[in-house]
Amino acid sequence: MAPAFEPVPLPKDTETQTETPHDTPDTVNNDAQVDYKSRVTVVGSGNWGSVAAKLIASNTPKLNSFHEEVRMWVFEETLQCGEKLTDVINRTNENVKYLPGIKLGKNVIADPDLENAVKDANMLVFVTPHQFMEGICKRLVGKVRGDAEAISLIKGMEVKMEGPCMISTLISEQLGINCSVLMGANIANEIAVEKFSEATVGYRDKREIAEQWVRLFSTPYFVVTPVQDVEGVELCGTLKNVVAIAAGFVDGLDMGNNTKAAIMRIGLREMIAFSKLLFSSVRDSTFFESCGVADVITTCLGGRNRKVADAFAKNGGKRSFDELEAEMLQGQKLQGVSTAREVYEVLSHRGWLELFPLFATVHEICVGRLPPSAIVEHSEQKPKLPLFYSTS
Ligand SMILES: NC(=O)c1ccc[n+]([C@@H]2O[C@H](COP(=O)([O-])OP(=O)(O)OC[C@H]3O[C@@H](n4cnc5c(N)ncnc54)[C@H](O)[C@@H]3O)[C@@H](O)[C@H]2O)c1
Repeated sequence: MAPAFEPVPLPKDTETQTETPHDTPDTVNNDAQVDYKSRVTVVGSGNWGSVAAKLIASNTPKLNSFHEEVRMWVFEETLQCGEKLTDVINRTNENVKYLPGIKLGKNVIADPDLENAVKDANMLVFVTPHQFMEGICKRLVGKVRGDAEAISLIKGMEVKMEGPCMISTLISEQLGINCSVLMGANIANEIAVEKFSEATVGYRDKREIAEQWVRLFSTPYFVVTPVQDVEGVELCGTLKNVVAIAAGFVDGLDMGNNTKAAIMRIGLREMIAFSKLLFSSVRDSTFFESCGVADVITTCLGGRNRKVADAFAKNGGKRSFDELEAEMLQGQKLQGVSTAREVYEVLSHRGWLELFPLFATVHEICVGRLPPSAIVEHSEQKPKLPLFYSTS
């Protein structure tokens, strides 16, 4: 249930409106009736992908400018019972592997064919683990509508020779379409059972598109705020997973709440500094949205990165993250360990390692170069960062 503080006014509904700025005719039938309605496809069907489809599917029937159906691309797999995951989702209306026990909405249609799933959509929601996105984008080049708008719910980044590439940039550049982002303090299983939470949409310049995304995702228990800062929002969502790994080490070593709070504070400080060094356009206020401090808190208290890092530290670093991930997450993917490696690559490439002792130490622990206990020893170093708090 939503708390009783101020309701956030949603942008005007489109129920009386049949055309939106980005809607273009996509079907012309024999009676010359033009289909101006937007079609949504969710690319990804893991834990969060399934919840995203559920949220959207609860809204499309109420919005006249959208087709009710929400297509969801499923990376096909055969379940232990021998049935295909897609068939089970379409028969039971449940993603029995990644979101068991939750009905997605009868208007969610699972589709194992990626190209078929996206071909008619003008609103594309990307929500897969970030390591699969490069391959997915390659497969989609030339296959999406020219007028499509995208939004990425993906936390992570790619590191290329030229430097770091945010996933929204990868999508925009590879597919030639605009891409917004949605991040926040959003542990999927809690939103699935409709517990109140907030999220942030980061957009580049088209406010009306951000409002479309807000309408598509918002429910009384999921309150979404638009912010004109794609990089800031996306970097928050990406970097907080590294902080969560550090918090997990602290939990696994039984260091207590003060230490964990210190790790969260230092982590947030490094997130702000790293984001601003990469993109001078990043706004300080973004870190106070749901995607910032709120997501750091929830991920350090309850997320899967924290949980597996806790187990890693309890085992004295003797069992690898890959082994623990396979054992503890049943097919779900960790993002923090790969993001720590990607951040480390950026830091060493740019000569910034000393400026970010927490980020650097998390990676060194993950790869076994330092013991888990190094998390406090290294974080205690005073980073030389007067530029952290420049607010220009
Ligand atoms: N789960 C959460 O609480 C949560 C919350 C916010 C954001 N996110 C972010 O959402 C994104 C997706 O996470 P999720 O929780 O939906 O996924 P998940 O970790 O639950 O599931 C993994 C998904 O990857 C798919 N997959 C496996 N191999 C693949 C391949 N080779 N190619 C393509 N797909 C493959 C699986 O079918 C499955 O759908 C991540 O970036 C994550 O950080 C997750």
